[in-house]
Amino acid sequence: MISIGPYSLPNRLALAPMAGVTDLPFRRLCRELGAGYVVGEMLSSDPRLRQTRKSLLRANHEGEPEPRAVQIAGADPAWMADAAQYNVDQGAQIIDINMGCPAKKVCNKLAGSALLEDERLVEAILRAVVGAVDAPVTLKIRTGPDPQRRNGLRIARVAEQAGISALAVHGRTRADRFNGNAEFRTIARICRAVSIPVFANGDISSPAEALRILDLTGADGLMVGRAAQGNPWIFREIQAVLETGQGIDPPAEADVHAVLTRHLRGLHAFYGPRQGLRVARKHIGWYLKDRPGGKALRARLMRVEDATQQLQLIDNHFQTARRHAA
Ligand SMILES: Cc1cc2nc3c(=O)[nH]c(=O)nc-3n(C[C@H](O)[C@H](O)[C@H](O)COP(=O)(O)O)c2cc1C
Repeated sequence: MISIGPYSLPNRLALAPMAGVTDLPFRRLCRELGAGYVVGEMLSSDPRLRQTRKSLLRANHEGEPEPRAVQIAGADPAWMADAAQYNVDQGAQIIDINMGCPAKKVCNKLAGSALLEDERLVEAILRAVVGAVDAPVTLKIRTGPDPQRRNGLRIARVAEQAGISALAVHGRTRADRFNGNAEFRTIARICRAVSIPVFANGDISSPAEALRILDLTGADGLMVGRAAQGNPWIFREIQAVLETGQGIDPPAEADVHAVLTRHLRGLHAFYGPRQGLRVARKHIGWYLKDRPGGKALRARLMRVEDATQQLQLIDNHFQTARRHAA
């Protein structure tokens, strides 16, 4: 069983933080469908951005099952410590530090995985944040700045010594961005070297891959990002294989329809109909990606400017599909 500080997770499957994707409605859905742990979208450590609409929405964890994990990004140890404290005051139960994001700059400062180049700064940030809050602090990294400098193992040791409670490691370097396949040897080395829980991350796209990567890395947990987009059922599918060794069927049509509808209603309510409609478009695209007639429907949905009409078109699509199947 994985514990992060005082929080024992119900299973070893985590939803990766994804800015613009893992908002409250999506996190809730993934929890319901089997993710044992979810992390919110990254929040800037810049205090001037705390009250923006974007930050307030990202920081919203209303009604979310515990533990509420908030990810912060930044490069200044004092700001990061302050951001951690602020978010704990706002209800965060776990603080996650983003050193995995490939973006060059977050808030005009070096941040995310760019920090991996400067191990002393990494240590200063980790110590400052751990020292600032009573809540457990976790860290998300890549395997290093580039394939010639895979310093993930050293960073992991520094993290453990600094009091980090768990690590998530994406098996790519910063220079790799999202290219090529994730590399799991470095993650395996990290898992052997530290005694805090490690989540392996990168390209986990099916129960079979999940088993392979667990086996390859010896990781305590698995963190799934893009494969959960439009497919939140992936968590229960992986969980079934982990628990019983047997796969389960993909969701029935009615299940897909019901979950997609619930997801869209959640987005419309969370962001308001106008913004909700827009955020929903990309999720709909992912859900419909491989469905017959999905492409034509996506094109029509992109032009719809009304949340009710968006739901109506989805209903029509599934009803027509049902009639054809009957
Ligand atoms: C759209 C998108 C947004 C992301 N945003 C974040 C983020 O806010 N914080 C973070 O640590 N990683 C972020 N990531 C990286 C993911 O957490 C994850 O490490 C990466 O996608 C690899 O896992 P996957 O192959 O399962 O998707 C993001 C990735 C994507 C695709």
